[in-house]
Amino acid sequence: MLQHNHYSRFLTFIYDTALHIPIRKIRQSVTRVITHHKAQNVIDLCCGTGNQLLYLQKANIQYLKGVDVSDNMLRQAKLSGLSDVCFKMDASQTDFKDNSFDAAVMSFSLHETHADIANAIFNEARRIVKSGGLLVVVDYCFDEKTHFLGRFAARAVEKMVGGDHYRNFKYFMNHDLLSSFSKGLKVARCQRFLLGAAALWVYENR
Ligand SMILES: C[S@@+](CC[C@H](N)C(=O)[O-])C[C@H]1O[C@@H](n2cnc3c(N)ncnc32)[C@H](O)[C@@H]1O
Repeated sequence: MLQHNHYSRFLTFIYDTALHIPIRKIRQSVTRVITHHKAQNVIDLCCGTGNQLLYLQKANIQYLKGVDVSDNMLRQAKLSGLSDVCFKMDASQTDFKDNSFDAAVMSFSLHETHADIANAIFNEARRIVKSGGLLVVVDYCFDEKTHFLGRFAARAVEKMVGGDHYRNFKYFMNHDLLSSFSKGLKVARCQRFLLGAAALWVYENR
């Protein structure tokens, strides 16, 4: 099993509180996209503390699952009452059958993993989501719409985490990996957040 140790107990303890204000609107938008599509069977790949799942739960999505490899993240998910929803599994090779879900969420996770793993996670989402279902990605996006302060803050946060995480982030951004993973898929929607430094992309699975 792939291990993920750079989220300390302290970091995961403060994670939801620290991110609540900057990220709340993104969580709400993801929830709107899922409810608008009438998806009832949703997986959050690399769910972390399960914060996005809590929003989906409140929106009465019937069947929710979250997987992550970090014990500390999953501990927090359990404390939030998600012990039946979130469990430890490598998102790049899950146990789920083909076409099991109406939608998969990948939020702020692809940028931090090695390019091959990020690609495998995206392909895994494509495998377990039905044709016509949604692949919902939230991640950093730097272009002419990004305010320099947004770019600065995103880089600073990633640099603070450091190590492989920061190397993977730089590679992800410099090589526009998401565009290559999603080649040929229809973008149903794209919305910008955090001074243009992050985006929510909704792809229709084929
Ligand atoms: C920055 S956190 C984002 C968590 C959550 N998606 C959110 O939006 O708050 C990235 C998460 O990806 C998880 N992760 C990275 N690689 C993974 C993998 N191969 N399988 C499952 N989880 C993974 C990490 O453990 C971490 O919890």
